Amino acid sequence: MIIAKTDRLVIRNWRETDRDLAYEINSDEAVMEFYPFRRNRAEADAFFDRVRSMIAETGLGLYVLELKESGEAIGYCGLMRTDHLEPFVPAGTIEIGWRLVARQWGKGLVTEAAGTLLAYGFGKLGLNQIVSFAVHNNIRSTAVMERIGMHRVEGSDFDHPSVPDTHPHLRRHVLYRLAAEEWRSAQ
Ligand SMILES: CC(C)(COP(=O)(O)OP(=O)(O)OC[C@H]1O[C@@H](n2cnc3c(N)ncnc32)[C@H](O)[C@@H]1OP(=O)(O)O)[C@@H](O)C(=O)NCCC(=O)NCCS
Repeated sequence: MIIAKTDRLVIRNWRETDRDLAYEINSDEAVMEFYPFRRNRAEADAFFDRVRSMIAETGLGLYVLELKESGEAIGYCGLMRTDHLEPFVPAGTIEIGWRLVARQWGKGLVTEAAGTLLAYGFGKLGLNQIVSFAVHNNIRSTAVMERIGMHRVEGSDFDHPSVPDTHPHLRRHVLYRLAAEEWRSAQ
């Protein structure tokens, strides 16, 4: 299932051959710096199965980014329901998120994918708003949010309820948002 194409990327559902990618982006120390867990091979396989079925069944989820030039799968960027962050984010709000193999950082690839997925979300899916959130000092991620036109919702920082006591430095999160009308007027 292909969701969209950009100049350099195909945005699509996961294929059986993407299992190594799922493991890499769930276990690499640089990629996982702002997460309180690492997934082993079996856990990464379970993640792969979960995201692939979610996309097949709902059309939403963490889509694979594939480089057009080489066919290499390099990470994910996706749209999905946020149902676990009440009262900070209302259940059913659509979130945009991303994770890229470290060797592909610094090329604007996630900005390119995310910009296209905003158009997909506001256009084809008719969403009213899209949010994103990150650990407060995950500057690479908040920079993507800012590059695609999202803005920080002042007064909406929150402590992520799933972050365990072992990782207090990963608890504080910032929330970004873009409304459909803001996105349209910027086009
Ligand atoms: C967050 C993450 C996806 C950002 O990746 P990224 O490559 O920095 O993001 P972009 O695709 O927007 O690329 C921007 C960088 O490419 C550069 N760039 C080059 N060409 C560009 C272009 N055409 N357009 C935009 N930026 C471009 C920018 O200058 C910027 O570089 P800089 O960081 O040195 O300033 C990546 O760091 C990552 O996977 N982190 C780990 C997982 C994670 O934390 N996910 C978010 C959880 S909330």
